[in-house]
Amino acid sequence: MLVLTGAGISAESGVATFRGPDGLWEGHRVEDVATPEAYDRDPALVHAFYDARRAKLETVAPNPAHAALARLEREWSGEFLLVTQNVDDLHERAGSQKLIHMHGELASGWCLACDSRFTWVGAMGEGARCPSCAATGKVRPDIVWFGEMPYAMDRIEDALARCTLFASIGTSGAVYPAAGFVQTARYVGAHCVELNLEPSQGSIFFHETRLGRASEIIPAWVDEILAQFVQS
Ligand code: APR
Repeated sequence: MLVLTGAGISAESGVATFRGPDGLWEGHRVEDVATPEAYDRDPALVHAFYDARRAKLETVAPNPAHAALARLEREWSGEFLLVTQNVDDLHERAGSQKLIHMHGELASGWCLACDSRFTWVGAMGEGARCPSCAATGKVRPDIVWFGEMPYAMDRIEDALARCTLFASIGTSGAVYPAAGFVQTARYVGAHCVELNLEPSQGSIFFHETRLGRASEIIPAWVDEILAQFVQS
């Protein structure tokens, strides 16, 4: 089983989504805060955007949807992988372990001087010092920006090729390659289910779409497939 999550799973925890009412892209231009060119042009603005999002994480907690996916990982005896587009740490805090952050993490820093990556807590700012090489002013958020390659695509494509059940949760299906995962899963014969507040751009590719708030529909879905699995 491969589960893909997006910002919608964290919305009820108080973490802003990107598109839709009050979305992050309503208040910021992607070109100003989420591209390598933006970082080269105005690193202070980019750091301020991510420092604010990192600070917000200290005030939020996982919701029942995150907890349900952690339970699913524990009780599902087949192969399981959770791939998240989210850069928050709510899946980890809920107990998920078999997890890939394909768009990076707010809790990680990347030094452009020595290419090392490391845990980062609190504000980073322009003058951050690398804990590995001590260089200052070369530490950037370890976030995959538009135009950059997502992380672990080889592992994700390998898991997709073998999956028999693909679930997409809380994502608008607006950004590739994540938005194309359902087509690969469908091609290899997986049952594809979408669980979201509203139909996404990729709804037509799913065998099944369940609409509702993640904190309600995900625990119910997990109960259902675990019971179904026990029967089989
Ligand atoms: N429960 C379930 N789904 C929800 C909820 C909720 N409480 N609230 C919102 N949603 C849904 C919305 O209907 C929407 O379809 O979550 C989806 C969020 O979509 P986006 O804001 O586009 O977030 P996401 O799909 O994760 O964006 C993908 O785009 O900007 C890039 O890198 C960024 O990872 C991000 C990627």
